[in-house]
Amino acid sequence: MKLLRRVCAQVSNIRGYCVRTADNKPPKILITGGLGQLGVECAKYLRQKYGRSNVILTDIIKPTPDVVNDGPYIFADILDFKGLQKIVVDHRVDWLIHFSALLSAIGEQNVPLAVRVNIEGMHNVIELAKQYRLRIFVPSTIGAFGPDSPRNPTPNITVQRPRTIYGVSKVHAELLGEYYYYKFGLDFRCLRFPGVISSDPPGGGTTDYAIAIFHDVIRKGHYQCYLKPDTRLPMMHVRDALRALSEFLEAPNETLNRRVYNVTSMSFTPEELADKMIKYIPDFNITYKPDSRQDIADSWPQVFDDSEARRDWNWKPQVDIDDLVKLMMKEVREKIIANGISTSH
Ligand SMILES: NC(=O)c1ccc[n+]([C@@H]2O[C@H](COP(=O)([O-])OP(=O)(O)OC[C@H]3O[C@@H](n4cnc5c(N)ncnc54)[C@H](O)[C@@H]3O)[C@@H](O)[C@H]2O)c1
Repeated sequence: MKLLRRVCAQVSNIRGYCVRTADNKPPKILITGGLGQLGVECAKYLRQKYGRSNVILTDIIKPTPDVVNDGPYIFADILDFKGLQKIVVDHRVDWLIHFSALLSAIGEQNVPLAVRVNIEGMHNVIELAKQYRLRIFVPSTIGAFGPDSPRNPTPNITVQRPRTIYGVSKVHAELLGEYYYYKFGLDFRCLRFPGVISSDPPGGGTTDYAIAIFHDVIRKGHYQCYLKPDTRLPMMHVRDALRALSEFLEAPNETLNRRVYNVTSMSFTPEELADKMIKYIPDFNITYKPDSRQDIADSWPQVFDDSEARRDWNWKPQVDIDDLVKLMMKEVREKIIANGISTSH
């Protein structure tokens, strides 16, 4: 009984809405770092669910006309706390999706900037979420693990000693979010995504090859891979990633045993992916020239254990490797043609 009371007190500390706010309206959602690989698609997905004007995309990049036509877009620098405060107040924001980051390979090239964007930026959004009692989603990554973690499978709770600034900043975000949850009742939610694959240009991560291979093979009939052929990494199509994010954001707090969950759809190697692509383009050619990203990949999980997400909020992937190749062949070809670039296949 005592335990039940304690749990109830903790839960009631957290804002009680799931899909609708207290005044029975859809949540007003702010996305930071929204013009990257995930943000634009995420805004489209959530606008279909909650209404065009209820999802505000922000970034420091000048938007394309398409982005502006799709719905609200405003400038927001994650390092400017007052600027963020003004947006939350002016737009009466309820949920914050924090995408701004420098990814693994890019972060290694500019560590001081990665520290500022990934760590100081996180300090700003978490304080903001606390002050205005926002539900806050922060994506983490397979990069939050390191060479000391079990790699096949990598469970939800295990040793995390990453060796990239990206990984270090994501472990920091996970721990800070959990701390604010226990200390202040902040509704912090975090999914550790594997490599997310979509037809949009990737942001400079170690799993980017699984996107670049489609673009190069369709355009030129050839791809030079920066990882060895047998490098196994967990992956997910963007469709599954956005559905996971949305279902997790809507999950009632009572169902969540953790604030941070692993999610995944599949694991494959460059060689296995290329084998599946041959069905569509039989004569393409792949060569391998590993670079510094190989060291990063060698320290990351090979197979991700997402059984806790499946158990607690019914996570279930839908896109397997065959579906993924079929979708990417179609979507990348369409994108290349729309950009007026000629294809060899
Ligand atoms: N794409 C993946 O495979 C993957 C996998 C796991 C986790 N994630 C996480 O998901 C999030 C989004 O990933 P993505 O692939 O879209 O990244 P991305 O690199 O494509 O986009 C990040 C965005 O952050 C913006 N940004 C940089 N500095 C900023 C600043 N000072 N203020 C505001 N915005 C700033 C950039 O302009 C960029 O548009 C990241 O936090 C990433 O760690 C992505």
